[in-house]
Amino acid sequence: MALRLMMKPPLSSSKGLLFFYLVVLFSCNQSINAQTNQTNSTTVPSEDKRGVIPEEILELPYLDFLKIDKNFFSGPLPAFIGNLSRLGLLSIAQNNFSGPIPKEIGNLKKLYLLSLGNNDLSGTLPPELGNLVELGELYINSCGLSGEIPSSFANLKEMRIVRIGDIYNGSSSSLDFVRNLKNLTDLVLRNVLLTGNFPSYIMELQSLQKLDLSFNNLTGQIPSTLFNMNSLIYLFLGNNSLSGSIPSQKSETLQTIDLSYNFLSGNLPSWVNSRLQLNFVANNFTLNSSNIR
Ligand SMILES: *[C@@H]1O[C@H](CO)[C@@H](O)[C@H](O)[C@H]1NC(C)=O
Ligand SMILES: *[C@@H]1O[C@H](CO)[C@@H](O)[C@H](O)[C@H]1NC(C)=O
Ligand SMILES: *[C@@H]1O[C@H](CO)[C@@H](O)[C@H](O)[C@H]1NC(C)=O
Ligand SMILES: *[C@@H]1O[C@H](CO)[C@@H](O)[C@H](O)[C@H]1NC(C)=O
Ligand SMILES: *[C@@H]1O[C@H](CO)[C@@H](O)[C@H](O)[C@H]1NC(C)=O
Ligand SMILES: *[C@@H]1O[C@H](CO)[C@@H](O)[C@H](O)[C@H]1NC(C)=O
Ligand SMILES: *[C@@H]1O[C@H](CO)[C@@H](O)[C@H](O)[C@H]1NC(C)=O
Ligand SMILES: *[C@@H]1O[C@H](CO)[C@@H](O)[C@H](O)[C@H]1NC(C)=O
Ligand SMILES: *[C@@H]1O[C@H](CO)[C@@H](O)[C@H](O)[C@H]1NC(C)=O
Ligand SMILES: *[C@@H]1O[C@H](CO)[C@@H](O)[C@H](O)[C@H]1NC(C)=O
Repeated sequence: MALRLMMKPPLSSSKGLLFFYLVVLFSCNQSINAQTNQTNSTTVPSEDKRGVIPEEILELPYLDFLKIDKNFFSGPLPAFIGNLSRLGLLSIAQNNFSGPIPKEIGNLKKLYLLSLGNNDLSGTLPPELGNLVELGELYINSCGLSGEIPSSFANLKEMRIVRIGDIYNGSSSSLDFVRNLKNLTDLVLRNVLLTGNFPSYIMELQSLQKLDLSFNNLTGQIPSTLFNMNSLIYLFLGNNSLSGSIPSQKSETLQTIDLSYNFLSGNLPSWVNSRLQLNFVANNFTLNSSNIR
């Protein structure tokens, strides 16, 4: 994909620099849409790009879309990103950004998509991200973060897709914020230090299609109602500390189930068959001649 950039020549020297940077940014297989009042456009072939986010980007007050993922951008995420007040989409995943997530990102009240995954960040998730009340999709995996998922995420009521993964060293995170996010279709919280019993309010998320809580330390039994949700298709609960038996009934919708590496026991339920995608390894099931198939 090429970058289309609206710019009117002649360019002043600072605009020229900005133009250069934007060409650099846009030429990464990625795109910047600057909804300016300008009339010209430029197309640049794709290439892998390096560098930092230039402050000159603030000269594009109508910028509503910044997508520079899958490059080699580095340096800290600048606080001035929080001044791009029209941004609806910010995607910087799969670069080499370092340092903390600036709390100023919480000023971007129009963001509907935020993607930060696969960078070399540090620090914790700022509670200010809970101010992004229009956010529908959030992707923060493999960023080098630590600490808890802030409880302010309970404000993100428009959220449909949440993917957070690989948070280390913190005290344990709570799932309570999920209670408010009634529109969730995808909830992926992998390896984020979740503890405690499997929460019953997950079953109240009536649009949920994919639930992945793998690589945490959830304890207690799997609620039978989880397997009877109308919408749920994919369920991944591998590498937790769940015990008890597998629910004996399952909705038709639920087709992919990973319960590997837990402490589940008992007999395999009668709905188990080869048309389903199942992974039950490394548990403590009782196998007998009628349920080995
Ligand atoms: C650019 O467009 C915006 C909104 O469409 C308008 O408010 C602003 O006055 C325009 N600026 C110029 C320099 O034409
Ligand atoms: C864009 O700018 C170039 C260089 O000034 C000019 O040749 C071209 O005609 C312009 N295109 C449009 C669509 O305005
Ligand atoms: C960003 O906005 C804040 C508050 O309006 C302002 O104080 C600051 O100078 C702005 N930063 C830049 C780099 O323009
Ligand atoms: C990423 O940044 C680190 C320093 O923060 C540097 O050592 C490394 O070479 C960078 N990697 C790439 C692919 O740019
Ligand atoms: C977690 O702690 C270990 C040991 O103190 C440290 O090496 C590692 O960098 C920390 N990771 C994060 C993401 O803070
Ligand atoms: C959820 O989705 C519905 C239907 O798309 C929409 O009407 C509603 O405003 C959304 N938000 C919340 C918080 O329910
Ligand atoms: C998981 O939680 C249980 C009960 O709180 C605890 O005994 C166990 O050590 C934890 N396991 C891990 C890997 O943290
Ligand atoms: C899952 O848990 C098992 C048993 O504790 C462990 O051997 C395995 O390495 C874990 N898998 C991953 C990918 O961490
Ligand atoms: C063997 O498995 C079936 C089906 O899971 C179960 O109904 C039966 O009780 C099991 N028999 C024994 C001896 O555990
Ligand atoms: C596995 O089940 C057997 C028989 O019920 C029990 O004695 C054993 O403690 C269980 N092991 C684990 C790791 O739960």
